[in-house]
Amino acid sequence: MLRYLTSGESHGKSLISILDGIPANIELNIDEINAELKKRQGGYGRGGRMKIEQDKINILGGVRGKKTLGGPISIEIKNKDYENWIKYMNPIEDVDFETKKVNNVRPGHADLVGCLKYDFTDARNVLERSSARETASKVAVGAICKQVLKNFDIDFTSHVVQIGSVKDNNIYKFDYIKENVDKSEVRCVNKEVEEKIIKEIDKVKSEGDTLGGIVEIRVKNLIPGLGSYTQFDKKIDGELAMHLMSVQAIKGVEIGIGFDVANNPGSSVMDEIYYDVEDGIKRKTNRLGGIEGGMTTGEEVLIRCAMKPIPTLYKPLNSINVNTLESYSASIERSDNCAVPACSIVCENVVAFVICKYLLDKIGGDNLADLKTNYNSYVKRLGDRGWKK
Ligand SMILES: Cc1cc2nc3c(=O)[nH]c(=O)nc-3n(C[C@H](O)[C@H](O)[C@H](O)COP(=O)(O)O)c2cc1C
Repeated sequence: MLRYLTSGESHGKSLISILDGIPANIELNIDEINAELKKRQGGYGRGGRMKIEQDKINILGGVRGKKTLGGPISIEIKNKDYENWIKYMNPIEDVDFETKKVNNVRPGHADLVGCLKYDFTDARNVLERSSARETASKVAVGAICKQVLKNFDIDFTSHVVQIGSVKDNNIYKFDYIKENVDKSEVRCVNKEVEEKIIKEIDKVKSEGDTLGGIVEIRVKNLIPGLGSYTQFDKKIDGELAMHLMSVQAIKGVEIGIGFDVANNPGSSVMDEIYYDVEDGIKRKTNRLGGIEGGMTTGEEVLIRCAMKPIPTLYKPLNSINVNTLESYSASIERSDNCAVPACSIVCENVVAFVICKYLLDKIGGDNLADLKTNYNSYVKRLGDRGWKK
């Protein structure tokens, strides 16, 4: 079973993740993994922290000569900012607990409940771990999973479809998004909408406020049958939702037309099936986003995630001092003003982890050669039943 854990604080020495279950002999392209990390750091609306960090992975175990060994892979991403924080964050020496103490807890962040639950008088102990800095680890893990999936032509892209009240209502083909999205600093493939988004971010920023939005993730070249209808915890849509909802600030996940299923009659929701000798078994539409009965159908998987606005506001909201209980304005921690473009990279890589997990579950194999044999045999059997890749 593919699984991972992450560890590390936002201003700690390093972020560490352990990814267990990646088969042996997968060739890793470290530059591609680092390129993914770099994309997460970019995007219009990010704060000063991202100018300090230049995330790169350092692999500490599980890989030899760029090829996976089949054991757990340990990944380190150093926090450059630690140099400036060592006297507050050092885990093995006495530290200065006072200078960076956070009393005035921020609404919408984990600060208040974290202090109550873990019996802390300093919300720094909470925010260091609840911070979305952890998403760098998620991206590194997903980027390794993508390198497994590349062997089976499975490809990913993502883009921003809404920031604040500005929406891109157009439908794009996968390849168009993939070719154009990295040219946009807000990861929006429509130039007109991009300009409006940038204006909206500038306006809200000048008011000391923040923005959320919606990102779309697409996966292509899948095979049918990843996931299963036979048990609730085998359904791939359930697993995707769990992983995506646990990304910091994600408040909604839709598959296909999502909540719109409720506004339409069945004839406008289901994807009709046809067969032709050239295409094999196919669908006319993809409203259900490539998943039926908790399983991939082989059509593109299409997911949208809604991100709430960043909770740290430069025009702080009313809150309390968690120790004196007096009313105060919430603390201002150096912060992004809009992180929706970065969030699209995070969500894309989180989806890559889930797809990889379910592909490995379906076809099995301790090494790349066995995976390929099993994959080809499954695809051949599907071919005998009328499905074509
Ligand atoms: C890529 C990314 C960057 C984020 N940057 C910030 C930030 O700079 N400041 C902040 O207060 N919240 C930021 N957040 C959101 C918080 O981490 C998140 O709201 C908080 O951990 C509480 O979790 P919840 O929103 O899921 O309840 C970011 C989220 C993501 C996905």
